[in-house]
Amino acid sequence: MTEYRSVILGVGSDLPGRVVTNDELAQTVDTSDAWIRERSGIEQRHIASEGEFTSDLGARAAEKAISNAGIDKSKIDLIVVATTTPDLTFPSTASIIQEKLGIRHGAAFDVQAVCSGFIYGIHIADSMLKSGPYEHALVIGAETFSRILDWNDRSTCVLFGDGAGAMVLQKQKTTESGIINNFIRSDGRYCDLLYVDGGPSRTQTVGHVRMIGNQVFRHAVKDIAIAMKECANSAGLEPNEIDWFVPHQANQRILDGVGKKLSLRKEQVISTVAKHANTSAASVPLAFDTAVKDGRIKRGDLVMLEAFGGGFTWGATLLRF
Ligand code: UT7
Repeated sequence: MTEYRSVILGVGSDLPGRVVTNDELAQTVDTSDAWIRERSGIEQRHIASEGEFTSDLGARAAEKAISNAGIDKSKIDLIVVATTTPDLTFPSTASIIQEKLGIRHGAAFDVQAVCSGFIYGIHIADSMLKSGPYEHALVIGAETFSRILDWNDRSTCVLFGDGAGAMVLQKQKTTESGIINNFIRSDGRYCDLLYVDGGPSRTQTVGHVRMIGNQVFRHAVKDIAIAMKECANSAGLEPNEIDWFVPHQANQRILDGVGKKLSLRKEQVISTVAKHANTSAASVPLAFDTAVKDGRIKRGDLVMLEAFGGGFTWGATLLRF
């Protein structure tokens, strides 16, 4: 039987120009550069300027991914955008990006799985490419998380940043490269540990991020390690046989904790948390693009993506680049 795979044809990312350091934050919030670095590994974050929206970051990342893929954008027939900070309640940010890119056909919609959104989006696009009439999918993670932060709450506002990353997937008859395995999970019992206290139906406001950080931390390390192991094992592999790990960039201590649990070498784990902070659904494709552009991740390498976020939601994707 012919096997189809979703092959990663191109990657791209985009960050707002404005960089905010820990020291700059410490001028307005009761925190310090030392506390933020020690507890999270974060040194700085990029923050969108006034009038710069999630769709702007997402469209710029998409343009770069399409150019990197070497195809004409008219080939894209599926756009999936993972975001928790859409431009508007509706239409979807995917539809807005479709318009910004000048694409006039195919389907476009958003996925909401908070920080795990990109992994969910990849799984959905992969399934639709394999089962449907689609040939080229654009999967984007894009956020202006700064817009839902309470800038007086030091326990959350120091941790997040804005950005976007994108991948172009192409359906190909191959077993040589592409997405091998996806694993996604959710457990709604933990809704109250990480959430936004507003929304169209309950409050008619946008709301702000609320988090019981230390409890989220414990679940994240445990659940991410299980997801990565299951995702690797279903493909007949152990996690430490994989060339590169591209984790969700929430906290360097989470990356180190998972690495220790799975006996990974530090050099195998791509970390951008120091420079980007937590960009929610954008963090995995942003980190992936960073490691492709700096020459670490090469064609043919075996790569695992993973994420954990509000819901709780979590998941992993195994692919050969
Ligand atoms: O992307 C979705 C997934 N999100 C995550 O995975 C985030 C998971 N959680 C974390 O990354 C960590 O739990 C944090 C970085 C949020 C916090 O680190 P922690 O080591 O778990 O600290 P903590 O929450 O237990 O707080 C320790 C202390 C508290 O003071 P007391 O009660 O010990 O006096 C906090 O009030 O640190 C205090 N604190 C701060 N101090 C200075 C909290 N935030 C700050 C701050 N600056 N920004």
